[in-house]
Amino acid sequence: MSEAVIRKCAPGDEDDLSLVGQAAFLEAFAGVVSGRDILAHCRRQHATEKYAAWLRDANSAVWMVEVNPGRAPVGYLVLTAPDLPLADIGPGDLEIKRVYLLHRFQGGGIGARLMNAARDHAIARGSRRLLLGVYSGNIAAIGFYERLGYKRVGTRPFKVGENTYNDLIFSLGLGR
Ligand SMILES: CC(C)(COP(=O)(O)OP(=O)(O)OC[C@H]1O[C@@H](n2cnc3c(N)ncnc32)[C@H](O)[C@@H]1OP(=O)(O)O)[C@@H](O)C(=O)NCCC(=O)NCCS
Repeated sequence: MSEAVIRKCAPGDEDDLSLVGQAAFLEAFAGVVSGRDILAHCRRQHATEKYAAWLRDANSAVWMVEVNPGRAPVGYLVLTAPDLPLADIGPGDLEIKRVYLLHRFQGGGIGARLMNAARDHAIARGSRRLLLGVYSGNIAAIGFYERLGYKRVGTRPFKVGENTYNDLIFSLGLGR
């Protein structure tokens, strides 16, 4: 497999993140949920400005995966303040909002490296817990999170385009 480089993003990366975000979302959910919903979700939730806002926000961090030769972007992770319906959300919590790799680059340990980068960043910031939401039908991602030690702690409705899907909420304690 090509060599993958993970780097922390900065303002100016928003166009590249929007492109890889849309490509990875379409690839992940085509044939799984409504195509119209996927395209509407990409237009709204993967707009350049969404990523630009995270890159400006001191409480958020974004990492991008690039592959050599060529340094093309093939994946990313967004870590930010949580927006999840849990009763005990507190200032020590952070949410892994998105973690995606294009299909050809999955299964080689890059996802775990991205999750470790986010975990190390959260620990360095004094966070006590990482949270995330995942579509209940995304069996592969659920297996991945469980392998990394995440435990199921709740559910939430998740709107994609015009339809609402059922998400599971997972949590990883950071030992504080
Ligand atoms: C989910 C995703 C980020 C995982 O990244 P990845 O590079 O494929 O995963 P890794 O190769 O780093 O796997 C890390 C560990 O999880 C395990 N794992 C991965 N997929 C698994 C599965 N379906 N079931 C059980 N364990 C799994 C791996 O075996 C590995 O464990 P090991 O080190 O003991 O072998 C990636 O597959 C992806 O982008 N999928 C599509 C988009 C998506 O669904 N994102 C999540 C949206 S919520």
